[in-house]
Amino acid sequence: MDIKEAAAREAVKYVEDGMVVGLGSGSTASMAIKLIGQKIKTEGIMVTGIPTSSASDLLARAMGIKMGDLDDHREIDITIDGADEVDPRLNLVKGLGGALVWEKVVAASTRVEMIVVDDSKVVEYLCQKVPLPVEIIRFARETTARRLASLGCVPKLRIAEDGELYVTDNGNNIIDCRFNRIDDPKSMESRINSIPGVVDNGLFVGVASKVIISNQDGIRILERPVQG
Ligand code: 5RP
Repeated sequence: MDIKEAAAREAVKYVEDGMVVGLGSGSTASMAIKLIGQKIKTEGIMVTGIPTSSASDLLARAMGIKMGDLDDHREIDITIDGADEVDPRLNLVKGLGGALVWEKVVAASTRVEMIVVDDSKVVEYLCQKVPLPVEIIRFARETTARRLASLGCVPKLRIAEDGELYVTDNGNNIIDCRFNRIDDPKSMESRINSIPGVVDNGLFVGVASKVIISNQDGIRILERPVQG
């Protein structure tokens, strides 16, 4: 079995009849959406999905999952989502797939945020391997990029595969910020978000409840350490 599928399959075991389930974005979360669709058919359970992107919404509907929204479902039982990096405290970098704003909004209403990754995503510190995605409004892109650079990163406006500027589900752009490392993600998350023109950034601090990590040898599950 594909290792991403193995992580997704483990997470879907936690989905039960009657639950409201946040549906993540990216290839691993998409695998989970397909498996939830299959589970609904084979076990006859009822699940309401809350999307984290227009892509996850489309896929879920195609899989026959009944979809709802946050205004009707203020509490989500469980969200299954992917991540781009996971540090030892289960803090995350997300947003290489461009869906970080909806993902953070959905996570904030979720009781159990379950992250599914293969072990290439596990790092010692955040931004070890990937840049930090920051969603910005189109107005004054250069100014916003300069202010981001003053925090110690090299900002790069994201370009889509068609060569045009990348546009999110919210009609915004993304600046990918290359940091050497981020040692205090909580502080950096709020410093970035205090820049005018920034919508949100891909640091998810204290959000993940469980991280399911798969590799060729199997699965391990990490739980967020209790804050003391
Ligand atoms: C999208 C994300 C995804 O969760 C992240 O990019 C992981 O994707 P994949 O499972 O394809 O590696 O943050 O905004």
